[in-house]
Amino acid sequence: MSILTDPRFAGITPFDKKLWLSSPTMHGEEQKWVDDAIQTNWVSTVGANINEVEKQIAEYVGVKYAVALSAGTAALHLATKLAGEKLYGQARPNEGTLAGRKVFCSDVTFDASINPVAYEDGEAVFIDTEYDTWNMCPKALEKAFEIYPEVKLIVVAHLYGTPGKMDEIKAIADRHGALIVEDAAESLGAKYKLNGQWVETGSLGNYNCISFNGNKIITGSAGGMFLTNSKEDADKVRKWSTQSREAAPWYQHEEVGYNYRMSNIVAGVVRGQIPHLDEHIAQKKAIYERYKEAFADLPVKMNPFDAEKSVPNYWLSCMIIDEDAMAPMVRGEQDYLYEHVSGKSSPQEILDAIAAFNAEGRPIWKPMHMQPIYRTHAFITAEGNGRGRSNAYIAGSGADVGADIFRRGLCLPSDNKMTAEQQATVIEIIRRCFL
Ligand SMILES: Cc1ncc(COP(=O)(O)O)c(C=O)c1O
Repeated sequence: MSILTDPRFAGITPFDKKLWLSSPTMHGEEQKWVDDAIQTNWVSTVGANINEVEKQIAEYVGVKYAVALSAGTAALHLATKLAGEKLYGQARPNEGTLAGRKVFCSDVTFDASINPVAYEDGEAVFIDTEYDTWNMCPKALEKAFEIYPEVKLIVVAHLYGTPGKMDEIKAIADRHGALIVEDAAESLGAKYKLNGQWVETGSLGNYNCISFNGNKIITGSAGGMFLTNSKEDADKVRKWSTQSREAAPWYQHEEVGYNYRMSNIVAGVVRGQIPHLDEHIAQKKAIYERYKEAFADLPVKMNPFDAEKSVPNYWLSCMIIDEDAMAPMVRGEQDYLYEHVSGKSSPQEILDAIAAFNAEGRPIWKPMHMQPIYRTHAFITAEGNGRGRSNAYIAGSGADVGADIFRRGLCLPSDNKMTAEQQATVIEIIRRCFL
């Protein structure tokens, strides 16, 4: 029986137009600044739009300098490289700055957060997640320093727009003399109370990164930024991002360079979006709250946040199914299988159901420690080593929080153009998955 003919879903009609997880929302000003770039002939990686977005984002986030780049991934690469160079010195051209070094990394995140560690020849050690905010677990981080006291770098992401426990993470980093690369790609506009003061994510690390990817809270179609209070670091990233030219009359190079600068056309789109950042956050918050209210009597919870210490940007609304309401579901490397049990459901059943009605959801990021590419890397939980915890004689014990959130959680349609009526249909489909 297909989902559309399943009597549980009788009376619901598929959406005519696909309801996206999170798609670009244009307002008109974007066109004006793109046209401006073309009319003034600044169709290049220099121009007024780039200067202006750097200024406006630095002001919004509360940092002194912003460097506009081609992607959040480029920002993360140069931030990670800069951290490596600060800690371990300049590398030879054919070597990364983290060669032979371990780096503590968020585990439940997009792989773009942590791949730059590999670009720089370092070895990511994955730190388990906590249930309160679905971000890096400070207890697991502390354990990781017990096991690998030599580590000096932490890459931390704020999942789905919800800040992690940055006061604890920063205190641990300080105690161990470690630097932080902050991946705020998903959380531009989210706020965090640090030492009694509200600050923006993107200003909490030693090296900070945001993204303007098409699905983010504001977009340039692509693009990212490196954010810092250090002029020296901003200048270095600007130099590396434009092929590392020295101040010579010809092309003179003493360092490896990259072509990572943002285009003035892309910056025009970002420039038109910035005035709408707060409006997008308000729309996403309304979506989150509608889901939360509608699911109050279902055996599920929304993605959590610490209301005293943080204000999320609500980029993606997510839910997690209570353990006793989880129907059987198994995932292989590329396929899955589930069974429906009355009164229960599973992420894959819900994702299939909403997809059948033409709406897009997504599994939670599959934890990095479970990814084939990083399966041989260390994984540290609040209890210690997260690998090899059972043997032929002793049953395994201890939580793997990331694996659990991946198993029971999912991202819901969170497009800020979704109407309350469309969202009510999504909610109805999900409710009926539990019939
Ligand atoms: C957590 C996280 N980090 C990094 C990135 C990479 O950003 P970009 O796509 O701009 O390269 C993304 C999104 O794409 C992300 O969600």
